[in-house]
Amino acid sequence: MGPPVATLGNDVAKMTWNGYKGFSLPPALDANLLNIDPTDHLRLRRLVSKTFTPRRVEALRAGVQEAAGGLADALAKRMETDGAADLVSQFANPLPLVVIGNLLGVPEQDRKPFSDWVTTMFDPQSRDDMANAVDSIHRYLLDLIEQRRREPDDRLLSALIAVRDEGDKLTEDELVSLAFLILFAGSESTQHVISGGLLTLLEHPQQLGALREDPALLPDAVEEILRYAHPNQMAIRRFPTEDVVIGGTRIPAGDTVMLCIASAHRDPQRYPEPDRFDIHRTDKAHLTLGCGVHYCLGAPLARLEIQTALGTLLRRCPQLALDVPADQLRWRPSFRSHALKELPITAG
Ligand code: HEM
Repeated sequence: MGPPVATLGNDVAKMTWNGYKGFSLPPALDANLLNIDPTDHLRLRRLVSKTFTPRRVEALRAGVQEAAGGLADALAKRMETDGAADLVSQFANPLPLVVIGNLLGVPEQDRKPFSDWVTTMFDPQSRDDMANAVDSIHRYLLDLIEQRRREPDDRLLSALIAVRDEGDKLTEDELVSLAFLILFAGSESTQHVISGGLLTLLEHPQQLGALREDPALLPDAVEEILRYAHPNQMAIRRFPTEDVVIGGTRIPAGDTVMLCIASAHRDPQRYPEPDRFDIHRTDKAHLTLGCGVHYCLGAPLARLEIQTALGTLLRRCPQLALDVPADQLRWRPSFRSHALKELPITAG
């Protein structure tokens, strides 16, 4: 049995958000699955979990492949005409946005602005910058929900609105925060694994060669990428429900615990030679998609998207190479998220 660690919610401890002291999300965005405990958590998760089962996600495969193929063609064309292209803005960012936008029912023209606000939320120039981005996200979701109330479609958001309006299973704040979390979680991390994953493969030509020779290794390569090059360095806040001792340190009940996933993945007691990227590694377990009751709802979709994205890129562009030295790449300056701002590539 593990130690009794659970999330208790935002009323227990307000953390700074992305380093800006005193800033917290409005309750209508913060009351999302990640920040709530059973039994509310179970009630909300049940409302959406059916949409993300492996079987339901498998049915999305053709659509994901079509979107990846179209973006890879456009990327290849850009590299042909301009000599280079940015993988982040032209492939890794739009692909998950298209997929989750279609699933939820977000109009095409709104996806990029939403993604830009999320980027600003994580990488703001100032506290006001961040507050404005969060406000834009909030107001956008309220408008979209009203629009879908007037004109429902057959997508997930309309289904959640119907649940909200038919009974007492979902409050209005919970509806907004569910839409926020699914749209933001569904697009943000996936894009960073796609760009960070491609960079990792380009930096390990032998491993890339092995993968090109045997594409059946792709699922294993993606699991190793998730361990070695994942973007989310920290898990969400946890609070012990009673005093616990971990590694000789006493943590009093109610204290905030920040778990560093990135550190766990480089633990030599857990992974032999943890700093070595090895797609043949037999131990494929990792914490990148979380564990326990908050285990990533979108895990099957994330795996499908990353495998499809990398598989399509490697097939479509057999000579892919970095267009700048790796030490000149620009990363998001955040201790939470190891994310590339751009990934300039050439067709080789
Ligand atoms: C590679 C991409 C992804 C990564 C690395 C990732 C990672 C995670 C992690 C670590 C957690 C748990 C956080 C914790 O317990 O501390 C989580 C939760 C969650 N993820 Fe993902 N995720 C990814 C993609 C997705 C996608 C595509 C969706 C689409 C719906 C999604 C939706 C969610 C939701 C809704 C939760 C909250 C689950 C809950 O609290 O019950 N994620 N994710």
